[in-house]
Amino acid sequence: EKDLQSKHLLHDKTCLITAGPTYEAIDPVRFIGNHSSGKMGAALALEIAQQGARVILIMGPSAVKVEHHLIKRIDVQSAQQMYDAVHEKIAQVDLAIFSAAVADYRPVNPAGQKIKKKSDTLQIELVKNPDILASVGDLKNKPFLVGFALETENELEHAFAKAEKKNTDLLVLNSMRDKGAGFGVDTNKISIIDREKNVFDFETKPKSEVAKDIVHEIIQRVL
Ligand code: CTP
Ligand code: CA
Repeated sequence: EKDLQSKHLLHDKTCLITAGPTYEAIDPVRFIGNHSSGKMGAALALEIAQQGARVILIMGPSAVKVEHHLIKRIDVQSAQQMYDAVHEKIAQVDLAIFSAAVADYRPVNPAGQKIKKKSDTLQIELVKNPDILASVGDLKNKPFLVGFALETENELEHAFAKAEKKNTDLLVLNSMRDKGAGFGVDTNKISIIDREKNVFDFETKPKSEVAKDIVHEIIQRVL
């Protein structure tokens, strides 16, 4: 076990983190989004910075403030912008954590002008967004990779499949079965799955403490 009390264990590392939701434009004033607050990603960024690493935080629209001299924040809106920002930086990082709640689909043709109210029904055609985490998992020179998974049924089975498909070193499974977990709350309940399919279960706790547990598991494996 590495001694986490001695700070700056990650002083020679650079870490990329995606966080928050993405917004997919329908027209100039409307979008498809989700309720991700960006709090989990912000807590991870702070914890990693406190361990001495430089952090590149690529964040979708979020009101969360993150202040630390080692954190460089890059604000993006859409999944495509997040994808582009990640691939611009990924070659220079040792470790990457994908906590963003990326929209799976975006409108095919966002309207150039505000859509006017006309017929009783409205159809918006959607197309799949690129999978940012999977695209990094496919790189030949990939950093140590941490993904997240949110499942509502067959949690472990789905999580194992996700870890394999996206080539993650660690996968953090967010449990929705617990009331203190998920979007908009300050606590979370997680399990962490490694490459050998070992599962580590944690209690419900504040997101800042959850970040410490995740970073602890990372440090055991990257140092
Ligand atoms: N992810 C990503 N890019 C996407 C979709 C997801 O980088 N376009 C990342 C998330 O940040 C997370 C992981 O992939 O780390 C799993 O996201 P999740 O939504 O649970 O999985 P999906 O592959 O999108 O599958 P589904 O939503 O159908 O369960
Ligand atoms: Ca998804």
